[in-house]
Amino acid sequence: MRNVKWLENAVFYNIYPQSFYDSNNDGIGDLNGITQKLDYIKDMGFDAIWLNPFYESPFRDAGYDVTDFYKVAERYGTNDDFKNLCDEAHKKGVRVCIDLVAGHTSLECEWFEKSCSSEKNEYTNRYIWTDRAGKDYNHSCIGGYAPRNGMYMKNYYYCQPALNYGFANIDDPSWQLPPEHPDCQATKQELINIMEYWLSLGADGFRVDMAPSVIKNDPDSSGVIKFWNEIRDMYDKKYPEAVLISEWSHPSVAIKAGFHIDFLIHMNLPSYTMLFRAEKRENVVQPFVGNSFFNKNGNGSIENFLADYLREYDRTKEKGYISIPTSNHDIPRISYNRTPRELEAVYAFILTIPGVPFVYYGDEIGMKYFADMPSKEGGFTRTGSRTPMQWTSGKNAGFSDCDKEKLYLPVEEDGVNVEDQLKDENSLLNVTKKLIKLRKSSNALSNEGDIEFLNRKYNGYPLIYKRTGTDGEYLVCINPTDKKQDFAYNLKGAEVVMQNDNAVITDDEIVLKPISYVILKLN
Ligand code: GLC
Ligand code: CA
Repeated sequence: MRNVKWLENAVFYNIYPQSFYDSNNDGIGDLNGITQKLDYIKDMGFDAIWLNPFYESPFRDAGYDVTDFYKVAERYGTNDDFKNLCDEAHKKGVRVCIDLVAGHTSLECEWFEKSCSSEKNEYTNRYIWTDRAGKDYNHSCIGGYAPRNGMYMKNYYYCQPALNYGFANIDDPSWQLPPEHPDCQATKQELINIMEYWLSLGADGFRVDMAPSVIKNDPDSSGVIKFWNEIRDMYDKKYPEAVLISEWSHPSVAIKAGFHIDFLIHMNLPSYTMLFRAEKRENVVQPFVGNSFFNKNGNGSIENFLADYLREYDRTKEKGYISIPTSNHDIPRISYNRTPRELEAVYAFILTIPGVPFVYYGDEIGMKYFADMPSKEGGFTRTGSRTPMQWTSGKNAGFSDCDKEKLYLPVEEDGVNVEDQLKDENSLLNVTKKLIKLRKSSNALSNEGDIEFLNRKYNGYPLIYKRTGTDGEYLVCINPTDKKQDFAYNLKGAEVVMQNDNAVITDDEIVLKPISYVILKLN
């Protein structure tokens, strides 16, 4: 099933279009801005990008509320600019994957406006409506909005009505339709048309927003697995090089559903949280670093992560890929409460484990998460991870030449930036770049190589794992804590290929300095 060759050593860069680079100085990043920065992207070693949505939208959820799926929002440019971005990216060997908001539209989408009518029309069943406006179905339904006598089901915010692909299990046949119903099939056909449209312009695949949300009342996921497998069949026949990436956070299910890649992140499985953001207080997991494994206090436990990860890894190996991203637009940046040195230890991990790595724009320079930033476009606490990319030490950090008040979000002018870090061999940017290069130079360290965790005891510091592939074996040793850590192992003949401090290595032991990592080639 893992039939997309280029994924075998791909490393993705996740770009939030409004904040990456502003090519026309209106204060908002745009598609031409991304095209202009392709050399930077390529030079870092990224060979694919995932763009957050750029479709026409009233931006009540930063573009995850789409009014026209076939049109680039004016603020980002035109459909021709998108085609041009794909053409230029392909010339450089960079693939372009885009966001597919499959589960809902904006309230202002013409389809929804038609669906609101009390008179039957083509869009009456395009969305999920109950059969009475005042009937309290459940908290996901909103009543009293439209002339139509029914409540619409929302998928996320109130302004994101759920598209109707059907219910796997039907509790109330007066308004719930099965996925086979022609109206649900019509919704699905429209989704396929949208996908084919962007693929025809040059897109290389989709990151599917809230992928499991398409089929309702589907506790065992069988409905949604069937749904996406049908799309995957279409892919395999017509677009065998294109990829499907899910926002699902349950790789073993997502990959069974036909996705090539799924993220391990904040939802469902707690493992991402246990790695990076565990917190002592109940129900509060973000953005604290607390007792996560990657915390210098050394109170975290790798066991919590491994319990989830290894189960998912064993079930998906050779079928699809797990991705542990550095951050994304929905969660606090990984830099929050971490020093650049601590980040190096995190990246040494993210960039040497199997699966497809995703680096969120700005994480390669350690851009900050701004915890108290006022909300923009429905971002709320997420807003602080969405600020403009810091390119230089100049005006607006080189993001745009506009007046400050026109900026999409405030930019940190005196913070880290690409220009400075490119010049410094030991900068986070250059460490990231070297880690990517090393990953790509070796089958064992690539997306494909096997992994075996060697220090699995409670606490499990230092983190030690072996990667194995056609070019032999590597040992990755990471100490996120601020104390020395040692590990006994037969290291005869081992060669250091990359490290950030002087580890002490003898024939049978390695001693790691505080907050450090070493990657060794074993012989
Ligand atoms: C996904 C997106 C998030 C958005 C939500 C609703 O989780 O990543 O940004 O708000 O879906 O579309
Ligand atoms: Ca612009």
